[in-house]
Amino acid sequence: MKFQLLTLFPELFPGPLGHSITGRALTNGLWSVDAINIRDFATDKHKTVDDVPFGGGAGMVMKPDVIERALLSFPAQGRKIYMSPRGTPLTQNLVKELSKEETLTILCGRYEGVDQRVLDAYDFEEISIGDYVLTGGEMAAHILMDATVRLLPGVLGNETTPDEESFSNGLLEYPHYTRPAQWVDAFGAERSVPDILTSGHHGKVAEWRHQQSLDLTKARRPDLLDKK
Ligand code: ADE
Repeated sequence: MKFQLLTLFPELFPGPLGHSITGRALTNGLWSVDAINIRDFATDKHKTVDDVPFGGGAGMVMKPDVIERALLSFPAQGRKIYMSPRGTPLTQNLVKELSKEETLTILCGRYEGVDQRVLDAYDFEEISIGDYVLTGGEMAAHILMDATVRLLPGVLGNETTPDEESFSNGLLEYPHYTRPAQWVDAFGAERSVPDILTSGHHGKVAEWRHQQSLDLTKARRPDLLDKK
């Protein structure tokens, strides 16, 4: 899968994605990233990429002509995404859908935003990573890319089964435990692993985990149960 980034900070890519599981997958050619600097497509001697908003107000707006030239410098764009707190919420279902694309072109804005006309002209899909505002779209892009790359065939080893993890079945994941079975914490409290997990009864373990998932989801994210 190919990610094409439009950003004022191309040096931020691959960034954290160049490490660990996503980094190995990058080295192995399972995905690639091409980040270009929007500023390289400014035509004046000051390399201006933004201007004051029509109608007044705070902040600066990124210019549509500069973004268009940057966008069209990629021979093919694939699905075009603009990272924005105003966008469709990024969910595991959307991530699954994105992971099937061959090419994603991601626009990362800075300042107050980008001129609406370039989003309209090129049918950018706006995606938000949550109800809070970042200073720019780059870290939001990292999150979208990480969630997408780990679903690509061959990226995760057999040790992880994406179908069991949080959200994949519409529920939060059950709690995990490992050795030692008896652990005394630094406060002196003895903490043991739930008996069922050491019983060797696979059916009962599965049942217990499912119930834990349901209880956790009910307590923390009842909105997820309403959607089922
Ligand atoms: N850019 C700034 N805030 C953002 C958010 N919450 N999601 C996606 N892109 C953003």
